[in-house]
Amino acid sequence: MSSPEAQIPLCDLRIQYQNLKTEIDEAISRVLASGMFILGPDVSLLEKEIADYCGVGYGIGCSSGTDALLLALQTLEIGPGDEVIMPAFSFYATAEPVCLLGATPVFVDILPDTFNLDPDQIAGKINGRTKAIIPVHLFGQCADMEPIWRLAEKHHLAIIEDAAQAIGADYQGKRAGSLGAMGCFSFYPTKNLGAYGDGGMVVTNDPEWAQALACLRIHGATKKYYHEKLGRNARLDTLQAAILRVKLPHLETWIQARQQAAIRYDQLFNDFGLKGFLHTPVIKDQRRHVFHQYVIRVPSDLRDGLVQHLKSHQIGCEVYYPVPLHLQKCLAYLGYRAGDFPVAEAASRSVLALPMFAELTEEQQFRVVECVAEFAAANARLAA
Ligand SMILES: Cc1ncc(COP(=O)(O)O)c(C=O)c1O
Repeated sequence: MSSPEAQIPLCDLRIQYQNLKTEIDEAISRVLASGMFILGPDVSLLEKEIADYCGVGYGIGCSSGTDALLLALQTLEIGPGDEVIMPAFSFYATAEPVCLLGATPVFVDILPDTFNLDPDQIAGKINGRTKAIIPVHLFGQCADMEPIWRLAEKHHLAIIEDAAQAIGADYQGKRAGSLGAMGCFSFYPTKNLGAYGDGGMVVTNDPEWAQALACLRIHGATKKYYHEKLGRNARLDTLQAAILRVKLPHLETWIQARQQAAIRYDQLFNDFGLKGFLHTPVIKDQRRHVFHQYVIRVPSDLRDGLVQHLKSHQIGCEVYYPVPLHLQKCLAYLGYRAGDFPVAEAASRSVLALPMFAELTEEQQFRVVECVAEFAAANARLAA
C-alpha cells in the first residue's frame, strides 16, 4: 500500500470513510455495545448478503483471503502428494496455503494482455497427482474459464477461484466466486470491498462443503469443545462483518466509478499520445473488469525510472508483482528457474499500477498522465 501522504495516493481510504462515517461509526458502536465480538448475526447476515451478491448458495466468513484459500483446500482434503495448478504471476498468498498443507503448487505461464493464467498451458501439467486448479482473477478481471471448465471436467479436478481482487467481476454474466467449486475473497482494506483490518470469505453452492468450511474455521468443531477435524481459528471478526455490511450496498457504485476512472485513463493516455510508450489494460469479451488495479505495461528498461519519477512527484504507484511465484526465495525447493515462465517474468519487469479508487478525480488522473508523459518525453520513447 503506498503512503496516503502522497499527493495522489495509489489508494485513498480516508474519503470513503468520511462519506460513510455516520453509518460506519454507528455499526461499530452497535457491536461494541452488544458485547459480542465473535461470529453472531452480523457475520451470518454478511455471509448471506455476499452469497446472494455472487449468486451462490453459501458464504463462510473467515479471517483473510489467505485463510479462505487454505480452508477451501483443506475442505477438499488437499495435502501431501497432491498437486495444484496455478498461474506463476500472482500475489504470493495464492501459493502459500497449498505449500502449508504439504501439497505442491504447479505453475503455468500467463497471457501477456490480461496477466491471467494461459489455459493452453494447463493440460500439459495435469497428471495423476493433480487435484485442483486455482485460476486467479488478477487485478479485477476473470480468467478465461471456459477452457478451464472443460479440463476440470475431463480430469475430475476442482476449481478454487482466487477471487481476492475480483468481487463483483463477471465472466459470461456469472459472478466471480460462482465459477468453480469454491470462490475465495479477501476483504483486505484496499480491496474493492475492504474491511478495517483483515477478513475474507469462501463462497460455494455445495451445502456439505459449506458445513465443512464453517467447521474448519472454528477449530474443526461442530459443537463447542467437540473437535471432529483438524481445523484452525480462522473466523471473520464481528466488527469487520458489521463494517462490511455498511459498505456492501455501495460496492456497485464504487465499481462503476472505478470503471469510469479506467476509461478516463485510457482516453488521457490516448490524448497525450502515449499509446506507443505503454499498454493500457485490456478487457476481454464477456467479462466485467472491476479494476481493483489499473495496471499499465511500460518498457522494462524504463519501468523503475518511471516509478522513481512518479514517486518524486508524490504520485503513488506500485509494482504488482516484482517477483513471479516460481522465483520466490521460499519456493526455491520446487526447483523452478529463471526462464521457465517468460511471460510472467516479462510482466514482473514491465507492470505498473497507477492510482485507482472510486473517488479518484479527473484532475488527479490528468496530473498522473501528465507526469507519465513528462517522463516518456524526457526518455525520448514517444514512438508513434
Ligand atoms: C490474488 C490474491 N490472492 C490472495 C490474497 C490474500 O488475501 P489476504 O491479504 O486477505 O490474506 C490477496 C490479497 O492481498 C490477493 O491479491
